[in-house]
Amino acid sequence: MNKTLQKNLDYKKFVVDSKLQYFKPHAGKIEKTFAEEISFSLNRKSKFISPKFFYDKKGSDLFETICTLPEYYPTRTEIQILKNLQNDLPSFIDESFRLVELGSGASVKTRLILDVFTKLQSNTEYFPIDISEILTESSEQLLQDYNSLHITGIIDTYEGGLEFLKNYDDKKNLILFLGSSFGNFSPVNGKNFLEKINSTMKSGDLFLIGLDLVKDSKILESAYNDSQGITAKFNLNVLSRINDELDADFDLNNFSHHSIYNKEDQRIEMYLKSLVNQSVIISKSNLSLNLEKNELIHTEYSHKYTLDQIKILLESVGFKIEHVWLDDQTHFSLTLVSKN
Ligand code: AVI
Repeated sequence: MNKTLQKNLDYKKFVVDSKLQYFKPHAGKIEKTFAEEISFSLNRKSKFISPKFFYDKKGSDLFETICTLPEYYPTRTEIQILKNLQNDLPSFIDESFRLVELGSGASVKTRLILDVFTKLQSNTEYFPIDISEILTESSEQLLQDYNSLHITGIIDTYEGGLEFLKNYDDKKNLILFLGSSFGNFSPVNGKNFLEKINSTMKSGDLFLIGLDLVKDSKILESAYNDSQGITAKFNLNVLSRINDELDADFDLNNFSHHSIYNKEDQRIEMYLKSLVNQSVIISKSNLSLNLEKNELIHTEYSHKYTLDQIKILLESVGFKIEHVWLDDQTHFSLTLVSKN
């Protein structure tokens, strides 16, 4: 079957105008539901809620606020590095590249890369991949600001979007994965994900990944325990989401935000702590949940890396390091790799 035909079978295409189109998987492709995942992850001894459920509208807004907090250094540090990288990037790309972004969200940092592309190219193609429909809003804003831009949005999971890209065409891609979102994967899932990216890439393609670095525990813990309590609200919001969408009766006053740096495993661990013995009904998951006082529900890992570990990890899945950019304090890194 030819590539175009195969693509059209799995995805529905929405053409807004000559500069903007979207692809969305057909409904049948959606896998487990929210209710099923919660039923599995809370009906066990060590309870967890996947961090992907943080990002409803309220959670996404709270995350945008986190990114502006004085204690949350990753966003402003990555922006500072991207500004330096702008001078170097033209030596790695040319007219033939398109920009692809995983988890594009509001596309704020993307603009720093788009500045480079649009200066270098007469027409720039941008493929944001995001599960959230926020992609549609941010795309329209980008098109107002960049005349020569053409956007093809893929509203799907990262894996789905990568598969779509693999089958799309032979144009060269620079794939972006910013914000150290990679750190939220477990090590095993993270490695599988990098392998997926590597197998999506053709020779000549590039991949730019932002990763947070190991540093003083105090800096790390205050980034995830901010003084205004926004991270706490972000964490607790997942329970409100379950209340609203799965017809549950979590009382948020009976939980607290708990986050610590695990030095040995080099990761921030985020939990919701039950403050009392309590029972909660989650109707749509068919679950009656009993929680003991001080019991923890795990909600997120945020892994931090050394530069050596980044090199070993990326090389182990078959990437060749092209360049590493750092900030003055070595708090954050951006690594550009090609396929070996
Ligand atoms: C999205 N991700 C990279 C953030 C992080 O730092 O791990 C999510 C976050 N959780 C609490 N604060 C920010």
